[in-house]
Amino acid sequence: MAKRNVIEKQSWKPGNILSPVPAVLVSCGGTRGWKPNLITIAWAGNVCSEPPLLSISVRPERYSYDIIETTREFVVNVPSLGQAKAVDWCGVVSGRSEDKFAKAGLTPAAALKVQCPIVLECPLNIECRVRESLKLGSHTMFVAEVVAVQVSSALMDARGMLHLERCGLLAFAHGRYFALGRCVGRFGFSVQKRKNRSQSSIRAKTTGRALRRRS
Ligand SMILES: Cc1cc2nc3c(=O)[nH]c(=O)nc-3n(C[C@H](O)[C@H](O)[C@H](O)COP(=O)(O)O)c2cc1C
Repeated sequence: MAKRNVIEKQSWKPGNILSPVPAVLVSCGGTRGWKPNLITIAWAGNVCSEPPLLSISVRPERYSYDIIETTREFVVNVPSLGQAKAVDWCGVVSGRSEDKFAKAGLTPAAALKVQCPIVLECPLNIECRVRESLKLGSHTMFVAEVVAVQVSSALMDARGMLHLERCGLLAFAHGRYFALGRCVGRFGFSVQKRKNRSQSSIRAKTTGRALRRRS
């Protein structure tokens, strides 16, 4: 039998409360007679690993909708914290009336595999080709294959590890933007055994690396 609630809860009407979510700049156009455009998207996520698929959900009334529907490609550009204002602005004005790249001071640059541009200043660019579009109601979900990825070299360490956090990560939660903070663990840390102290100190001596203080 379920336990009695000891934490007081309110019942809310069903809605899109899932938080936090990303707030990304999706670039599209620049091909088949469409000018390059940007749309801010929060309804985005990874949906399959093999093959690598992600989805974005777009309202049909958006200018970008027609572009993506006809060109069947787009780029998900993950912004840095410093681009938060551009992210918001590209989500409140339409490419029908503005050249968002120019006005936001962002540079359209060549993608590796798709015809539409990447946003050069964004640290992570995920090039996508649409596989399916699902008309769900208010939004159409484009399920797309990731066909190429570009990352800023400045975020790579000497061992080839990507440190996206170095550019400042942005999240969106219940209508507000947040800066993601410190890392609280790696994947699987909850089940990882702590190294015994003598082994750790031997390794530190042999590799010459100082052990970081655990908090
Ligand atoms: C933080 C944020 C998240 C947004 N997420 C979405 C989304 O997931 N899907 C969508 O259709 N519109 C979303 N929008 C609204 C569009 O970005 C906005 O209507 C934009 O002006 C459309 O541009 P376009 O007409 O040039 O395509 C979002 C806006 C903001 C500010």
